[in-house]
Amino acid sequence: FEVAVLVTGGAGYIGSHTVAELVEKKEEVIVVDNLEKGHRDAVAGAKLIVGDLRDKEFVKKVFLENDIEAVIHFAAYIEVGESVQNPLKYYNNNVIATLNLLTAMEEAKVDKIVFSSTAATYGEPENIPILETDRTLPTNPYGETKLAVEKALKWCDRAYGIKYIALRYFNASGAHESGEIGEDHSPESHLIPLVIQAALGKRESIKIFGNDYNTPDGTCIRDYIHVSDLANAHYLALQRLREGKESAVYNLGNGKGFSVKEVIDVVRKVTGRPIKVEDAPRRPGDPAVLVASSEKIKKELNWQPRMADLETIVSTAWKWHLSHPNGYNDK
Ligand code: UFG
Repeated sequence: FEVAVLVTGGAGYIGSHTVAELVEKKEEVIVVDNLEKGHRDAVAGAKLIVGDLRDKEFVKKVFLENDIEAVIHFAAYIEVGESVQNPLKYYNNNVIATLNLLTAMEEAKVDKIVFSSTAATYGEPENIPILETDRTLPTNPYGETKLAVEKALKWCDRAYGIKYIALRYFNASGAHESGEIGEDHSPESHLIPLVIQAALGKRESIKIFGNDYNTPDGTCIRDYIHVSDLANAHYLALQRLREGKESAVYNLGNGKGFSVKEVIDVVRKVTGRPIKVEDAPRRPGDPAVLVASSEKIKKELNWQPRMADLETIVSTAWKWHLSHPNGYNDK
């Protein structure tokens, strides 16, 4: 019965990299994941409990049967387009399940949580780079559910003393340096893995969603951040909560934007393979430019990205995809 950090969604992409970081830091980790999207093989060095946070009794039981010190909460649906088609699915899993988790935390007197939030809480940005104090006006249910949880956290802090750090990720990408864990979504919708699949010949071409945006080359600009740098931020956030500091919200990005065309060129360079591109219509809800200011987390948590360079990020993703062309199914 050891004191542990509970990681929900720890078998997913960012969750599994955070588990790896915590294990490396000699933390005791318990993962809860329903394995709907996560992969059993992505969890190493931690106990895995398979179950769903929408099941209140299950959540209570996890807290009764384990000595949990703090929670890092990743488990959620993440597809923007799907959230527009089926908002209730998103409210159920991203909001209601999180309320179950907070209820169980309150009952068990667990008072620390690091929460996976997103740049999608901002919607169409007012300023670039985006600051944490900028307007939050999500343009889709996915971002709306994440913002709803941030607000619930604020009130749970005030009422129950549950301290939180919400991390608003920009574009998580890359893979663990070991090449043992990486990105494996089904269906895959993210730019870098899709371009790599095209480089591997697993797909005919990559579609560029819109070439008439108000950007230098007409394609959307995003702030790509290495998943291990994200993972490290969770560890620092946890330490900060252990010091008894106040709740906070932080952006996490590299502060530098790359266009879709620039990303494709970097993948061409790193892989040395030809990649066919195809122009396609804009994807609904895509802002032209999303770039973070991460000055606040650098200053307050002393966070420093180790793999900020896009070529490095893509190289780690390439290493993972080359050794796991079918993702975790290759194991
Ligand atoms: N894109 C293409 N072709 C593709 C896939 C993507 O041109 O086949 C473009 C998109 O239009 C976008 C960029 O590549 O301009 C990046 O798209 P991703 O889907 O990889 O990432 P997003 O920026 O849309 O979304 C990511 C996360 C979301 C999160 C959002 C917040 O996936 O969960 O960042 O910034 F909400």
